[in-house]
Amino acid sequence: MTDSTIPTARLGDTGPEVGAQGLGCMGMSFAYGPTDAKESRATLERALELGITLYDTADAYGNGENEKFLSPFFKAHRDEVVIATKFALSIPPDDPTRRIIRNDPPYIRQAVEASLKRLDVDAIDLYYMHRRDLHVPIVESVGTMAELVREGKVKHLGLSEVTAAELRAAQAVHPIAAVQSEWSLFSRDIEAKVVPAARDLGVALVPYSPLGRGFLTGSFTNADTDLTADDFRRQQPRFTGENAAANAALLEPIRTVAEAHGVSLGQIALAWVQQQATVHDLPVIPIPGTRKPGRVEENAAATTIELTKEELELLEPIAAQVAGDRYADMRFSSAGRE
Ligand SMILES: NC(=O)c1ccc[n+]([C@@H]2O[C@H](COP(=O)([O-])OP(=O)(O)OC[C@H]3O[C@@H](n4cnc5c(N)ncnc54)[C@H](OP(=O)(O)O)[C@@H]3O)[C@@H](O)[C@H]2O)c1
Repeated sequence: MTDSTIPTARLGDTGPEVGAQGLGCMGMSFAYGPTDAKESRATLERALELGITLYDTADAYGNGENEKFLSPFFKAHRDEVVIATKFALSIPPDDPTRRIIRNDPPYIRQAVEASLKRLDVDAIDLYYMHRRDLHVPIVESVGTMAELVREGKVKHLGLSEVTAAELRAAQAVHPIAAVQSEWSLFSRDIEAKVVPAARDLGVALVPYSPLGRGFLTGSFTNADTDLTADDFRRQQPRFTGENAAANAALLEPIRTVAEAHGVSLGQIALAWVQQQATVHDLPVIPIPGTRKPGRVEENAAATTIELTKEELELLEPIAAQVAGDRYADMRFSSAGRE
């Protein structure tokens, strides 16, 4: 895929049309080991050439560094890109395993001003609540987010890792364009309640970590031994110890399907997520993360792959067999509260 661009999809009933695959930019500043700014910038430019228009960041990624890093790219292409960022989460630099979550109105107002400043734009296209602060009713937080829309600081609203009930309560306050939650061949918990609710409400699904944080590409098999000491994946139960070895064995059916198509494992993982749009009848816009131009090409090319019914059946049992949770503390994920 060098000359053609990817298909498009709508970010829910109320959102804009975007490339049917977005780009996760988190790893360019945070979580996944050493980064190369020049290579990351080349990745952003290549993504845009391929028709990728939805770019995903958050104020928490590198404590604002990711938003600052992306700002020149966004400014150079302001009319071509859809900027998605998030508030709610902060990670104390002296304790990277800790998470502070806030959803109260004064915090949201302070967070949006800080993101607008770092991004150096007049408005954020898609503003997500990153995590739920269970001490604040969701209607109160979404009420403040709706005020930001009316004030022109934000164009569309999104929620990340919410339950179906939380999504319904939020939608009663203001239209929600997208729910961003983990969804991949390894993480399918949202299919039970969140996905049907999103379909009913006209909300798009934006699957994060669609490559299982890289595990589904086969690029690492055990976080303890294959990744640097500060890599976030070393905190995730499914990528470490005995779980990692058990989970690596689950890649075999993906390998079988990849060989049949003559493509990579990661491309099959992405094709599977993308095909959930047809299976569940709603817009699905995955945001695989990469910092490498060659990989963004490979990932974008997955939008042309169609899996057969037999291939989907072969891949079906994988998620139920995964050993270990996707987070060490599941209270902050929708599955921990459904
Ligand atoms: N809402 C939330 O709570 C939340 C949580 C996590 C992530 N996110 C968002 O979702 C985005 C994507 O998720 P993610 O980055 O966690 O996981 P992912 O997209 O499943 O996987 C990213 C990992 O896969 C590697 N990779 C990408 N393409 C590859 C390819 N073609 N071949 C081999 N390896 C490849 C990347 O390495 P390289 O970068 O070195 O290529 C990176 O280590 C993030 O960037 C972030 O914006 C949101």
